Amino acid sequence: MARTVDWDGDAIAAIDQRALPAEYRIRRLATVDAVVAAIGDLTIRGAPALGAAGALGVALAARRHPRDPGRVRAEAERVAAVRPTAVNLRRGVERALARLDDGADAVLAEACAVLDEDEATNRRLSARTADLLTELCGDRPLRLLTHCNSGALATVAWGTGLGAVRELAERGRVAEVLACETRPLLQGARLTVWELREMGVAHRLCVDAAGPSAIARGLVDAVVVGADRIAANGDAANKIGTYAHACAAIRHGVPVVVVAPESTVDHATPTGADITIEERAADEVRTIAGTPTAPAGTPVYNPAFDVTPAELLSAVVTERSTFRDGAWTVAAAPALR
Ligand code: MRU
Repeated sequence: MARTVDWDGDAIAAIDQRALPAEYRIRRLATVDAVVAAIGDLTIRGAPALGAAGALGVALAARRHPRDPGRVRAEAERVAAVRPTAVNLRRGVERALARLDDGADAVLAEACAVLDEDEATNRRLSARTADLLTELCGDRPLRLLTHCNSGALATVAWGTGLGAVRELAERGRVAEVLACETRPLLQGARLTVWELREMGVAHRLCVDAAGPSAIARGLVDAVVVGADRIAANGDAANKIGTYAHACAAIRHGVPVVVVAPESTVDHATPTGADITIEERAADEVRTIAGTPTAPAGTPVYNPAFDVTPAELLSAVVTERSTFRDGAWTVAAAPALR
């Protein structure tokens, strides 16, 4: 599989995530307008992948308007504002923009550095999560539940929550993954299942509402998910539906681990209540794959994310820090493998 988001020399090359699993195709994005559209329609999605796309979007703007920094900043703001919950998007934009005074080539180099760092970061946080799950669950093959897609497709490469699953699978420690389909846009069914098949990891697909009951019936050893923004107090925003799994998990003594890079932790956001939750179009809920499933014009509530309070989480794990029992600790030395 290619990198989810890449630079082809003149434009962004992105795996079109709307087309999977029916078709694997690369979409070329040569303008800021195209980047804004691709982020909005979820051609590119998943917090770290959005950060990479945001940085490259600024590079496109800097190359297009080399003598107009004001215009580049305005274009950068347009990119950053498309999706408000995933803090990685704005972080990626700001990181590239910080090199604007050094010229368009420097902006592009910084954007490419965001991409280059992604896989190593994800492998490191995955190894740390696998070690933690061994500590929490013991040294046996685990039955894991995940929600949405936090795999390679949600990052530049490897993945976060699903990256940890991959790391555990490579250690021979995954019995089964229960992948929740993730209505309304089915990132679990379309993308996570596609990745699990590619990895050769045993899995079953379930409707979102089956997750909490699977936990209650003792079919799940741990819940492992990614995040779009983690507040300073450890509250974590992730795809809508995550909270229900976490409620069931704490009720039944099942660990819940949130896995994300440091770039998803926002110490400037004190609590989950301060996280802006993106509301998306009504037709995402009124239809499935374009087919109406509710009367036309039905009023809709469509938050893209929910917030799971830190008290329901066993841990938040990044490549270098862990939030556990109400406090962040920084690892003395990252678990490099
Ligand atoms: O709306 P999406 O598909 O961008 O939502 C993605 C998620 O909620 C992921 O779980 C999150 O970004 C973590 S990805 C490593």
